Amino acid sequence: MEERKVLYSAIQPTNNLTIGNLIGAIKNWTNLQNDYDCFFAIANMHAITVRQVPADLRQKTLSMLALYLACGIDPEKCTMYVQSHVPAHAELCWVLNSFTYVGEMERMTQFKDKSARHAENINMGLMDYPVLMAADILLYQTDVVPVGLDQRQHVEIARDIAQRFNNIYTPTFKIPEALYMKVGAKINDLLDPSKKMSKSAENPNGSIFLSDDRDTIIRKFKRAVTDSGSEVKFDPENKAGVSNLLTIYSVFTGKTIAEAEADFAGKGYGDFKLAVGEAVADKLAPIQKEQEKLLADKSYLEGVLRSGAERAAHTANKTLAKVYKKIGFYQL
Ligand code: TYM
Repeated sequence: MEERKVLYSAIQPTNNLTIGNLIGAIKNWTNLQNDYDCFFAIANMHAITVRQVPADLRQKTLSMLALYLACGIDPEKCTMYVQSHVPAHAELCWVLNSFTYVGEMERMTQFKDKSARHAENINMGLMDYPVLMAADILLYQTDVVPVGLDQRQHVEIARDIAQRFNNIYTPTFKIPEALYMKVGAKINDLLDPSKKMSKSAENPNGSIFLSDDRDTIIRKFKRAVTDSGSEVKFDPENKAGVSNLLTIYSVFTGKTIAEAEADFAGKGYGDFKLAVGEAVADKLAPIQKEQEKLLADKSYLEGVLRSGAERAAHTANKTLAKVYKKIGFYQL
């Protein structure tokens, strides 16, 4: 039997996830799980590069797993695990640090953004974040990494580091490819459609959180920024707000952008925004309900994480052993 290609992705268990995370990441994972050998991590080691409240981080870790499951990721098909449960991530990160240049890390857009936002805590972890992400991906001999567009630079640096290592030694790592979706690789803020919708946005009214209730969702969409025109048309250059809403509507209803435009031909922005809000609220409600149900069964969730960590470690340790051998670490 032909071996399936490997797919790897992860999300940090921080703050509240937004529909950007759902659309840019988890939704695609559920569609891809039948075609790839999938690893989905909960990136708690990345999360601590910004201060976290320990009890919250613990709680959000389980809640992230419950979300993966509630969105339909199947633990029989996919390996879901917590990053810190597989020590090979930290170990490979340390090795790769010696194959990464400080200048490369200083140039990373997300590092620059986060340094500006957390000027009081520009720690080494924040800077090293892309190297840990490279370790995540490379440990599994990953073929594809489905992510949103904001992670493009990080996947590229993972490829560079892998290539560099392979050139110095012999081919050791598979060179991964990023996978972006045609629709929804970048969902923007509802109040400032020039910015991505973010878990940590200053104004929470610009983001739809996966935990928002129906009324909140509809209220936020009603207030979404559009433009002075009146036509519901996809034109990201000139109609950033409307185009973002069309993208969200299209993803949540399964309609194409053209079908979405047709739904609102001759209608005003008010009707349009309400319809988008309702489509999102309708889809989120059952996910929220299922997530809550799953969270009540801690022993089931821990079982999934335990077997996930075991399977992940099995694969990761094979790559790590190869790396240790090549770089000359003495083996007993
Ligand atoms: P994180 O936790 O910030 O985001 C998780 C995923 O959600 C996508 N995303 C979006 N997509 C579309 N529109 C948006 N507004 C939006 N906001 C977020 C992100 O692109 C991402 O795919 N460093 C990663 C986590 C990570 C990882 C990895 C990913 C750690 N190791 C290895 C892939 C492979 C991160 O912070 O994502």
